[in-house]
Amino acid sequence: EKGGYEHFMIKEIMEQPKAIRDTLTGRLPDSGFEVNLDGINITKEDLQKLNKIFIVACGTAYHAGIVGKHVIEKLTRIPVEVDIASEFRYRDPIVDENTLTIVISQSGETIDTLVAMREAKARGSRTLGIVNVVGSSIAREVDDCLYTWAGPEIAVASTKAYTTQLICLYLIALDFATKLGTISYEEFANIRDEIKRLAEKVEYVLTHKENIQKYASEHFNAKDIFYLGRGLDFAVAMEGSLKLKEISYIHSEAYAAGELKHGTIALIEDGTFVIALATQEKLFEKMVSNIKEVKSRGAVVLSVAQEGNTDIENVSDHVLYIPRTLDILAPVLTVVPLQLFAYYTAVQRGCDVDKPRNLAKSVTVE
Ligand code: F6R
Repeated sequence: EKGGYEHFMIKEIMEQPKAIRDTLTGRLPDSGFEVNLDGINITKEDLQKLNKIFIVACGTAYHAGIVGKHVIEKLTRIPVEVDIASEFRYRDPIVDENTLTIVISQSGETIDTLVAMREAKARGSRTLGIVNVVGSSIAREVDDCLYTWAGPEIAVASTKAYTTQLICLYLIALDFATKLGTISYEEFANIRDEIKRLAEKVEYVLTHKENIQKYASEHFNAKDIFYLGRGLDFAVAMEGSLKLKEISYIHSEAYAAGELKHGTIALIEDGTFVIALATQEKLFEKMVSNIKEVKSRGAVVLSVAQEGNTDIENVSDHVLYIPRTLDILAPVLTVVPLQLFAYYTAVQRGCDVDKPRNLAKSVTVE
């Protein structure tokens, strides 16, 4: 059932190209100026009355939501707020009939997300679910449901659910933007064509997994690991850090790279391992400066950048390249080496990768 792999987690990491293709099937026509979102019946008029979108989720799904915020805001100019489900519900959020609440959940059974969704609904908000498990509680209760076609995710650490959640968020952003007229055909076609190349690019990253295994074998004894990034790379840093913590039990922090100098840089000392994400073209130079700041304090830096940005080699100890893509789509590629790094590190440390201590696949207590 593990298809020849040692663990479900690595099997599911390797299944991501297929999961991405399945999630795209039938939804993004090769031509035309539209997206076909089965399960979503939100019209132009519905969108025009929205003054805000909330994205509410937990853990990895929450991290996908942060990427979603950037992308939806960029393409539709509707303000998006992202919230942790267990916080949302208890802080009297400003939600009404002019709000759309998007909830993201692999299992569709996470109680924090489910009750947050009910709360939003009770306040008059339309609710849209991005869900993996067909017929789950959240899928049944939301007004509109877009399924991720990731297939069953067995490992506790979420991987292919995350990448397919990102795909659904891109599709939703494109759908809303075409309906609202906030995107040109050229921009739409460019993003569409690049989305269609993502599965193949993920495959390419996966064929280089032995490099990442090597870094893991060099750093698996680290006491703590910092993940730095700006913009969408910061969102991916949070996900990479969570993956590492939950399965390898190494303490780790994700930090907005520009924020480090406001305090946390005090924790960087000789030999501290830092994973620096520098995939965002617009922020590349700023990121290079931040890498220099940690290098000068003795950090050992593994950087991730888009192919061709070889300047990064001057400031890093190791560099991993991802195939070139649009900045907004880079998270789908950037997260893959981080999943692999967490996986190989946990294996090296002899951890129970698929069933990490104290965690359950679906959290049904508040
Ligand atoms: C992390 C992880 C958890 C889940 C979270 C939400 O790898 O698996 O953080 O992402 O508990 O679960 P779902 O998506 O089922 O609502």
